[in-house]
Amino acid sequence: MSGQPAEQKLWGGRFTGATDPLMNLYNASLPYDKKMYSQDLEGTRVYTMGLEKLGLITPEELKEIHRGLEIIKTEWSNGKFIEKDGDEDIHTANERRLGEIIGKNISGKVHTGRSRNDQVATDMRLYVRDELIKISKILKNLIETMIKRAEKEINILMPGYTHLQRAQPIRWSHWISMYATYFTEDYKRLLQIIDRLNVSPLGCGALAGHPYGIDREFIAKELNFNGCIGNSLTAVSDRDFVVETMFWSSLFMNHISRFSEDLIIYSSGEFGFIQLADAYSTGSSLMPQKKNPDSLELLRGKSGRVFGNLAGFMMSLKSIPSTYNKDMQEDKEPLFDAMLTIEHSILIATGVISTLTPNKEKMESSLSMDMLATDLADYLVRKGVPFRETHHISGECVRKAEVDKLSGIDQLTIEQFKEIDSRFDDDVFDTFNFEQSVERRDATGGTAKSAVLKQLKALSDVLN
Ligand code: ARG
Repeated sequence: MSGQPAEQKLWGGRFTGATDPLMNLYNASLPYDKKMYSQDLEGTRVYTMGLEKLGLITPEELKEIHRGLEIIKTEWSNGKFIEKDGDEDIHTANERRLGEIIGKNISGKVHTGRSRNDQVATDMRLYVRDELIKISKILKNLIETMIKRAEKEINILMPGYTHLQRAQPIRWSHWISMYATYFTEDYKRLLQIIDRLNVSPLGCGALAGHPYGIDREFIAKELNFNGCIGNSLTAVSDRDFVVETMFWSSLFMNHISRFSEDLIIYSSGEFGFIQLADAYSTGSSLMPQKKNPDSLELLRGKSGRVFGNLAGFMMSLKSIPSTYNKDMQEDKEPLFDAMLTIEHSILIATGVISTLTPNKEKMESSLSMDMLATDLADYLVRKGVPFRETHHISGECVRKAEVDKLSGIDQLTIEQFKEIDSRFDDDVFDTFNFEQSVERRDATGGTAKSAVLKQLKALSDVLN
């Protein structure tokens, strides 16, 4: 950590004094932005093509520049790139190295009309685009894994809950399909974000625009952007794509967290609906009997960290005046952390869901007759009684069974039913069948086998 003469820095011309060594550290983003090395080199590769079209560099110089950029890329990917004092960030590091390889006479031209402001905005968009495409692929795989499991285990019934109280019987696959539906919405939203961020800021200079009339559309096309950002001030100052990515990540982690919470509850001794694979559990250092769902707890816990990244950067961004300000360098660490956390979380969730074992007997034996009280009310509705009335009558049956300490409403005799309401007939006992209760709910989105299979098919259609 040495105080560095200003003239050694790429922007050193107007400075005479050395920088405080701590300031060098405080200012440097290379430790974390070097992961964008290939996007930075690619941006320069294409930008210099634009300069060549303008006659600002010769075809021979362009060739030399591209040769140098290739060498630098190999150095980074082999771990051979040597960072030096004064390499503030990935942009300055790459340009400094280019000068060493091809000579400053040529390398000194690559930044003509460009600023690190449009450069970093470009690098970030390219990097986030690459990462989100990667994330979309593993997310798709998670959803497909869930769909397969749901199709295979379509015959398992379980209690469905509201307020964490047993409510109505549902299919286990209906539960899986619920989260697969959330994740599919996340998937769609992710593709929209990729599409929205995929516009080029390059060629806007520091803020005011390009002084040599560079062909921004050409550059955008070469970098596979969908088009150009229409205002140069916006181009260098806009970090909404960072916010959107972190919001997406937060919302996705919220879904992952609720999914995990359900599974944690279902894996407890009291529920025993599922068993986690050893690969995703850990033991206790003290209690030999314990098998803890650490994978799920971490998935749940990391949702806080990802939201924290979003909240933190929102605060950094909120009062930045136009256009570029150094505060914006604070976009990287939370964003990179969020994306890495997301990537790992999706892979862990995929592992968990593909290896857990559902306990069909335990799920089905946890169904209780009171969960068919609505079906009992519906029985009378089918006989023409208004639902508000049947709801009340069914409630009386539940209470009667409770008062008589019966194991369930199905244990009432036909006489007792008729005493409560004369419109009950012998066929009332057909109501007390979980499978039929589930199968009656065959309207779109319901828990009947046909309805669940339709949901799963619709999700597959979105993915393909
Ligand atoms: N490392 C900087 C960042 O990430 C690059 C842009 C620097 N621009 C400037 N005008 N100092 O934001």
